[in-house]
Amino acid sequence: MMMVNEQEVRLAARSLQEGQLVGMPTETVYGLAADAGNHNAVEAIFAAKGRPKGQPIIVHIGALEQLDTVGCDLTQAARKLAAAFWPGPLTLVVKRSDRIDKTVTGGHDTVGVRMPSHPVALALINAFGGPVAAPSANKYGAVSPTKAAHVRAGLGDRVDMVLDGGACEVGIESTIVDVTKEEPVVLRLGLITEAQLTRVLGVDVCYSATSHTPSPGRVTSHYKPCADVYVIERPEIDAKLQELVSLGRQVGLVVCNVLDGIHGAHHTQVVGDGTHAYARKLYDCLHFADEKGVDAVIVEPPTGDGVGMAIMDRLRRASATVA
Ligand code: TXA
Ligand code: MG
Repeated sequence: MMMVNEQEVRLAARSLQEGQLVGMPTETVYGLAADAGNHNAVEAIFAAKGRPKGQPIIVHIGALEQLDTVGCDLTQAARKLAAAFWPGPLTLVVKRSDRIDKTVTGGHDTVGVRMPSHPVALALINAFGGPVAAPSANKYGAVSPTKAAHVRAGLGDRVDMVLDGGACEVGIESTIVDVTKEEPVVLRLGLITEAQLTRVLGVDVCYSATSHTPSPGRVTSHYKPCADVYVIERPEIDAKLQELVSLGRQVGLVVCNVLDGIHGAHHTQVVGDGTHAYARKLYDCLHFADEKGVDAVIVEPPTGDGVGMAIMDRLRRASATVA
């Protein structure tokens, strides 16, 4: 089990039982895990992240059947999507069961629930023996962690223990679908696309930027590294780079493939062709830019398929200048 042994998982499960916070690898990004049934532990998540109260936290389960203990009055759409995509990078917003505390759901009567596919996450949740609340393991508004080192760098000793499950396969946060109503609505884009959801449900499932459900991932400015992010198409990259350099700025570059004849960047990182590879590497590139201390990063946008749209959503928020 990748970089983590059974004993560490047992230790982490015990930490959760004792109300502590554990950095949990998942296939999307690392989560900051706590016992979903422990009010104080859930409060500690908000404190560690600096996350505003009232912002709901996703509950993670270790087996499909647990959906019925976390949620209630489940719709057909909820069951179909869980069967089709779990374990995996999909969060379902369902009606909250009484067993889930309102602190977890930010006072709402719905709950976001997901069964992750990462073997370490599943082992931890099952060793713990109950639902685990876990937002992404970063300070509020910052870039999500895709490696254990990102968690430690971002949260320091606010996290009691970090399980190192290697680099996250998916690299961006789960797709979120609200399945509480007759018409399912995508609240956050991710690796699982609108087209895939539509195929499983047989009805059009679309992203809505205007739904009323509050979600931190939906505020205009989010997923931000310390450096300013500029999303620039390839033909304009050189001009933007020269402009920033002439202003005396240290600039990092994140591009889809090797870029010849462009000079002056402090460092260049290649995310590779294809949107899956892009998603997997993007946050690591942004964390790397911060580690190198550049004050600007020029990012070449991905191509425009479904996953590309999810990436563009993150880049738009990362480059936004307003909160
Ligand atoms: O991939 C992921 O989803 C990761 C890993 C750790 O599972 N988690 C994650 O959590 O991204 P977080 O808290 O950083 O983002 C969860 C998003 C937030 O925007 C939150 O508002 C939304 O999910 N959410 C959670 N419960 C919700 C609910 N009941 N209704 C609407 N949105 C909800
Ligand atoms: Mg987050």
